[in-house]
This record gives sequence, structure tokens and C-alpha cells, in this order.
Amino acid sequence: MTQKMVQESDRFQDPIEQHPGYAETESKIAIWGHPLHAMSVAFPVALTFCAFGADALYWLSGEPFWAQAALWAAGTAFLFGLAAGATGTMELLMVPGIRIRAPAWTHFVIAVLLLSLLGANWGYRLTGYEAAVLPYGILLSGFNVIVVIATGWHGGKLVFDYRLGTSKGS
Ligand code: HEM
Repeated sequence: MTQKMVQESDRFQDPIEQHPGYAETESKIAIWGHPLHAMSVAFPVALTFCAFGADALYWLSGEPFWAQAALWAAGTAFLFGLAAGATGTMELLMVPGIRIRAPAWTHFVIAVLLLSLLGANWGYRLTGYEAAVLPYGILLSGFNVIVVIATGWHGGKLVFDYRLGTSKGS
């Protein structure tokens, strides 16, 4: 019976878990042990919310200031998002235990969708930031808020559930 159970467990071993780098998940893109990706994601997340907030205030007040603020928030959300994406991509490609896990690639796909939406939101406003707000600018900003929440939540899962990019201590 025991022999049979051992054979069964041998048959269902996950080949991914057998990979030599599977347990190697510590961040490599870090300053003094502090992962750059975790440090940089706060900026695009906050600025995505700011773009939506500025659009909503323009809708309510009609003040051109808010349309211009939305243009700047959308642009900086995109640029800081690219920087955060670069640190995340380096982590993904350089750390074997991150590279081999499917959820890390899922996060990459959601994040690239987010970055293209952030870029679209900025680019759309460049030819006339006031006219762009209603209705498509604010709709895009609102959708971006939903996608940034999904991206951040999923990134949090990588860290808190899978312990990716964390330190194992000395
Ligand atoms: C585009 C390529 C991206 C890749 C390949 C990527 C990859 C990763 C990886 C591997 C982690 C696990 C922690 C680590 O190793 O540092 C992570 C965490 C995270 N990511 Fe990304 N990421 C990307 C873009 C983004 C973007 C654009 C955002 C949001 C604006 C984002 C939000 C997060 C968050 C919030 C965490 C959790 C950080 C923490 O709690 O410490 N990621 N990402």
C-alpha cells in the first residue's frame, strides 16, 4: 500500500517545482535589499487615480485648469508606469523562481494592457486637452482606475501569496 502511494506521488510531481531555480525568488532589482518595482509602482497607481479625479472635477466645474491637470496626471501616470514596468520586467526575466511561475506572466500581461491604456489616455489628450475629457477621456480614466486596481491587487498576490521578490532573511 505504502509502495503504491509513493509511486502515485512520483507520477504526479509538478515538473515546474523540480526546476533548479524554483526556490530562487529574491528580488535582484533592488537598492540595499529594497525592490525597485515595489517602490516605483505607487506613482503610476496614484497618478491614474489623479487623472480620473481631475476629469471628474472638470466635468463638475468646467474649469480648464482641471482638464490640464488631467493631461499632466495621465502623462505622468504613463511615464512612471513605463519605469515601473521596466523594473518589473527585469525582475521577471532575471530571477529564475519568478520567471518560471505562470502568475508572474499573468501579471505582466495585465500590466502591459494597463500601460497601453495609460498611453492611450495621454495621447488622446495631446491634441486638445479640454475637448478630450467628455465623454471619452473620463471614460478611459475610469476604466484605467479599474485596470490599475486589478494590476496592483494581482502584484500584491505575487508578493503576499507566492512570496516573489521578497527577502528570505540572512
Ligand atoms: C510591465 C511589466 C511588469 C512586470 C513584469 C511586473 C512584475 C512584477 C513582479 C515579478 C512582482 C513581484 C515582486 C517583485 O518581484 O518585485 C510585482 C509586484 C507588483 N507589481 Fe508588477 N510588474 C509589471 C508592471 C506593473 C505595473 C505597471 C504596476 C502598477 C502600476 C504593477 C504593480 C505591482 C504591485 C502593486 C506589486 C506588489 C508590490 C508589493 O506589494 O511589494 N506592476 N510585479
